[in-house]
Amino acid sequence: MTAYDIIQAKKRGKALSKEQISAFARMVAEDSASDAQIAAFCMAVCLRGMTDEETFLLTQAMADSGERLSPPAAGVFADKHSTGGVSDSTTLVLVPVLASLGVKCAKYSGRGLGHTGGTLDKLESFKGFNVNLTAEQFSSHVERIGAAIAGQTKSTVPADKRMYAVRDVTATVDSIPLIASSVMSKKLASFAQVILLDVKYGDGAFMKTARAAEKLARLMVAVGTASGRQVEAAVTDMSAPLGDNIGCNAEVREVIEVLRGKKNNLARLSLLHCERILRMAQGMEEKRAKALAEEAIASGAALEKLRRIVSAQGGDTAAFDDLEALPLASGKFVVRAPKSGKLHIYAQALGRACAQLGGGRQREGEEIDHTVAILLKRRAGDAVAKGEEIAEIRYRERRQEAFDLAQSAFEVKPSYRARPLVHCILGKEDL
Ligand code: URA
Repeated sequence: MTAYDIIQAKKRGKALSKEQISAFARMVAEDSASDAQIAAFCMAVCLRGMTDEETFLLTQAMADSGERLSPPAAGVFADKHSTGGVSDSTTLVLVPVLASLGVKCAKYSGRGLGHTGGTLDKLESFKGFNVNLTAEQFSSHVERIGAAIAGQTKSTVPADKRMYAVRDVTATVDSIPLIASSVMSKKLASFAQVILLDVKYGDGAFMKTARAAEKLARLMVAVGTASGRQVEAAVTDMSAPLGDNIGCNAEVREVIEVLRGKKNNLARLSLLHCERILRMAQGMEEKRAKALAEEAIASGAALEKLRRIVSAQGGDTAAFDDLEALPLASGKFVVRAPKSGKLHIYAQALGRACAQLGGGRQREGEEIDHTVAILLKRRAGDAVAKGEEIAEIRYRERRQEAFDLAQSAFEVKPSYRARPLVHCILGKEDL
């Protein structure tokens, strides 16, 4: 069986067998499939789709492509994973909140994908932060500090690691079977029993409609439940950026501000996710979970926990005392409201503009510029006056094309219809 035959079968719309899927995942992990073959396979899946059965098999095959981690000790371990959005740094708020409350978080994260930001890239804003923990280091950090956030190593889910990097630069991200198998293979290879999935929908998400996001959410809950994990999926709005900043350093600054008590949609959604995880992990009732999560921020315990996580993984903690330790590029381009009315913000164009300015990748493996930022001065739905400053772009190299793209992300209309932050929450009883 060759990679060529497997790609050809998928290109012709055939359902792949267990043997074909396992063989392809193995070839990807062992480097015997080329990047071109991986790209062709992913494109064939994007265009032809996969049955739920094929997606289950691909997830298992990818999870088995490396070593599966075992828990470092008895106890409940939690994880949360987002399908990708713009200005979505919930992981960096949620993990320290939960860890400070005794819920241990074992978090395998990814890099920026397409127009979306990635947790690993943001963590590297703390100079020296090591995202490449060995399986032993990962387990030991979770046990000692209460949390670890790392990227897959060569030995953990190597098939996803390669496929993810190829998908990022070949427009093959927005496929339900590829996202479901990518996310869930990492979850199954790790040891968290309690998993909260944040499935985004809207302009800045890979799923454009709530319906498509619900389909993806159900599939991932089904894969996780079938493997004996406790999984819930929150389908959440990603039409406008979640937080107020886009770009690594700027987003990490905002995380620190939220952990110091700033209230915005990033804070709200992170707290809602913490509540769901506390309820799943500790069987806590809603009111108590909410109060505890809020107290973890108000007391400074969560901020202190993030400092510890960063320091334990070798990162520079200067930003906890002075946000300027996370510099922003010195070039400034101001975006003003073209007329008066209600502001609409489109997340995808902003994510792409940030990437074009160097804040994200155009090519696999490229270095990114952590200082590039888009700072929102006004939020979607705000009433704005003509000429008012609505955003500031911080850049190192002037690129008119990126400024035009960013400007196209703002529209002013007579009215604005807000969507709820959380569209629905799905669990195993909804399958
Ligand atoms: N996050 C992942 O881990 N994989 C995807 O495919 C999309 C988001």
